[in-house]
Amino acid sequence: MSGSTPELPLVVLDALMPTTQRLVLNRRGSTVWDVDGDRGRYAVKLGHPIDATAEWPAQPWTALAPAREGAVLHRLGFGEIAYGEWERGTWNIQPWHEGPDLYRLWEPCRAQGSSIEPHTSVALSCVDALAELHAKGWAHGDVQPAHFIVGPERTHLIDLALARGGHVPEGYDFPFRGCLVHYEAPEISRSVLDAGEAEATQAADVYALGASLLISATGWRAVEYPDDAPRPVQREAVANGRRRPVTVPGVLGEVIEAMLSHAPEERPTIYEVGKALS
Ligand SMILES: Nc1ncnc2c1ncn2[C@@H]1O[C@H](COP(=O)(O)OP(=O)(O)OP(=O)(O)O)[C@@H](O)[C@H]1O
Ligand SMILES: [Mg+2]
Repeated sequence: MSGSTPELPLVVLDALMPTTQRLVLNRRGSTVWDVDGDRGRYAVKLGHPIDATAEWPAQPWTALAPAREGAVLHRLGFGEIAYGEWERGTWNIQPWHEGPDLYRLWEPCRAQGSSIEPHTSVALSCVDALAELHAKGWAHGDVQPAHFIVGPERTHLIDLALARGGHVPEGYDFPFRGCLVHYEAPEISRSVLDAGEAEATQAADVYALGASLLISATGWRAVEYPDDAPRPVQREAVANGRRRPVTVPGVLGEVIEAMLSHAPEERPTIYEVGKALS
């Protein structure tokens, strides 16, 4: 069954009474639907464990991720949330946020020979979304361009499965083992290499947002390593600080440069980033 797409659990169908449902993603132990109905429009996430393969060790935590995220969203008061368990893992229901993500929105900036510059207002809306979380005492832990949904009124920061800052039910909790390496701060990569785990922090979120803005605006990763480098090699490059120069013009470029500082204490806080951009 691990190759096939799971179906929405009955308890979720009962809760949402969908009129339409669209599969958004089905990969690496995670399935996401866009579900619409009389009760509103929701994202539904389903998790199951990943078996070991040649490239991956087994990953039991992907089964717990939706419930963990549900608990975090509930605690933060981020809209109508439900979560629970199904045969193979856990699920959550959360409000659907409409809009392109940051990477897709800035695609025109990345086109060859493009003279379109990234809008500071969009960057600022991402900063606001992260600042909202930091102000509540949380760190996101998995900041990346796909997780900023730029809506007409505001930008939403999604995927809080790895967030840290308050109580999470023990049965749904799991250690932080880093995130997508392109957005990992050097101290996170170093810790994952040395200890297999790391501490998600607000300073690491600031670095990850800097790397997200850079790659979305220019197509370049913050750190240089070959596309096909194995993860430990990627992490070594990040930890050793083999940074690319930031080529984004103006204040935005200066701010991104500071956000990507090697030492966490040299990075601006998210509020300082906001001030610099407004
Ligand atoms: N609340 C939401 N509103 C709109 N779209 C969402 C929402 N939650 C998830 N999505 C969509 O589903 C995708 C995957 O969601 P998410 O990142 O939360 O899951 P994931 O299991 O961590 O997947 P990945 O392995 O890609 O990180 C998002 O990139 C986005 O396109
Ligand atoms: Mg994700």
